[in-house]
Amino acid sequence: MCGIVGYNGKDSVTDQLLESLELLEYRGYDSAGLATLNETTGKVKLRKCAGRVADLRKICQNDKKISTCGIGHTRWATHGGVNDVNAHPHRSGDVLLVHNGIVENYEELIDHFMLHKELKSQTDTEVVAAVLNKFYQGDPHEAICKTVKYLKGTFALVVMFVDQPEVIYAIRNVSPIVAACNQNGTMLASDVAALGSTADKYMVIPEYVITELHKNEIKLFDLKGKPVEPHFMDIDWDTTRDGKGKYPFYMEKEIMEQPDVIKATMEERIIDGKIDLSGDGVPDEVLRDCERICVVACGTAMHAGLVAKSLVQSRLGMHMNVEYASEFMYGNPVIDEKTLVLAISQSGETIDTLEALKYARKKGAKSIAVINVKGSSIARESDYVMYTSAGPEIAVASTKAYTTQLAVLFLLVGRMAKVRGVFDDGAEKAYLENMVQAPDKMQQVLDQKHDIHKIAREMLDAKDAYMLGRGLDYSILLEGALKLKEVSYIHTEAYASGELKHGTIALITENTPVVATVTQEKLKDKELSNIREVQSRGASVVLFVKDGIDLADAEYADVFTLPAMMDEFMVFPASAALQLLAYYVSMDKGLDVDKPRNLAKVVTVE
Ligand code: AGP
Repeated sequence: MCGIVGYNGKDSVTDQLLESLELLEYRGYDSAGLATLNETTGKVKLRKCAGRVADLRKICQNDKKISTCGIGHTRWATHGGVNDVNAHPHRSGDVLLVHNGIVENYEELIDHFMLHKELKSQTDTEVVAAVLNKFYQGDPHEAICKTVKYLKGTFALVVMFVDQPEVIYAIRNVSPIVAACNQNGTMLASDVAALGSTADKYMVIPEYVITELHKNEIKLFDLKGKPVEPHFMDIDWDTTRDGKGKYPFYMEKEIMEQPDVIKATMEERIIDGKIDLSGDGVPDEVLRDCERICVVACGTAMHAGLVAKSLVQSRLGMHMNVEYASEFMYGNPVIDEKTLVLAISQSGETIDTLEALKYARKKGAKSIAVINVKGSSIARESDYVMYTSAGPEIAVASTKAYTTQLAVLFLLVGRMAKVRGVFDDGAEKAYLENMVQAPDKMQQVLDQKHDIHKIAREMLDAKDAYMLGRGLDYSILLEGALKLKEVSYIHTEAYASGELKHGTIALITENTPVVATVTQEKLKDKELSNIREVQSRGASVVLFVKDGIDLADAEYADVFTLPAMMDEFMVFPASAALQLLAYYVSMDKGLDVDKPRNLAKVVTVE
């Protein structure tokens, strides 16, 4: 979390930083700030405020934009509340600093360096600035080396020393920093998207390497002062964002894009009517020889893993674990060289997923990462990567990333079935025939968005809502409930409907909103009977039902018919419907749909 940026070049740094901070805002939007250093006058200008980058822009509006070297930050608060003082950059003496990560031992450092009286904020970052300043005697390398030896935790630090106006310094542990150079200057940022559209090459700053950003070059040194050769990579994907278009929010735009991006995700992996993963470089032996599969992921990405688990177990008859990446290591997972770990992540930067992946690889597991953001940390850490073609996902609530992850996972399972001899050509063909229908079936739901909007209007006053389903429906609803709670702030829980009578049904009273999906032919009778149980206790039930499933003459508050597909594939149309439901509730409540409170798009702290 938190986005950091630095620019040193020919152009006005304030404009450069504000633009990049806007692109990084999805990493945190509690507060924003920038510091600029005028090389000629040696004057520092520090601007920061609680609120959005737009608020920072207003503050900077009348500034003379003459400096060409500076650093900036957009914050997701970890230590200390959301206010102007806690916003970055922090200044201590000659040191100006922005930070992404968490310094776990900051309290020890306050005691050790006797900083109590000089700190103005409650942040761990200001402590690092103060320690750096203690060590700074005119030699930035010496101060940085001495400081980082004291730091425990994760950090990406970008520093300016007031008496070194020509250079920006950076160092990191775990938290990412990428850097690029173009004809206008040098830049660094938390991710490639913020580097600006003119860069065509970038580098990932290696851990514990001191980086110097000069006007026309980037220099790297290890902690002993030995130069490190920079390793540049091509930016071979489009990082530009084309705005919200005709939609009021990115979330709606991204929901509506799903049929296209799912097609794009499948396109290069279905060749001559067969699943072909050669473009991803995933060898068949890896898929054939593994004995166990384990998913590590967080939030929505973990829910995609749960759907894949149903498929793996039903189609491949293989054992599969799906773990919260943040809990993975604490459960003493059984991992060995026969385990295939799937790390699923939109951003590719989620620290819990990254750490779980590293842990599994140390135990000998092979790994495939399912990632949206190219070149991201998890993609780099994994043996193999399968990219989703969702394109930039800007809304904090994940929609198209989820369904493109599903598309990749369905193809991966299909290929596994083939190489393990479960599918013959005919079975593969039948499987793919269903798969390729997914975008059209989703489109049919999206075309009826106004009907879902009507359903959403009935839920605006709800404080709590429940979602009920069995089997795959339960997995689908776990994601549906996450979506509704994160964008609408309605407390929503998904329950396996068979569990109801073991406690949850006590929560159902008159008019409690209950959302149910009934998409699985063999579970429908039990699901419908569980729905009747909550209706008998007053619940107001909204039903999303697969076309063709007979509801007899039962009555529901609302029924939306989902276009029929083979049961396993019903997740695609059902997810589109649940995403729209969450979206419209949030929009009609007048909330900031794309930037829900307290959240950040990329979670880079544990
Ligand atoms: C989804 O709507 C969330 N905002 C969140 O759960 C997200 O899926 C999770 O943080 C994982 O992110 P990743 O896919 O970038 O790893």
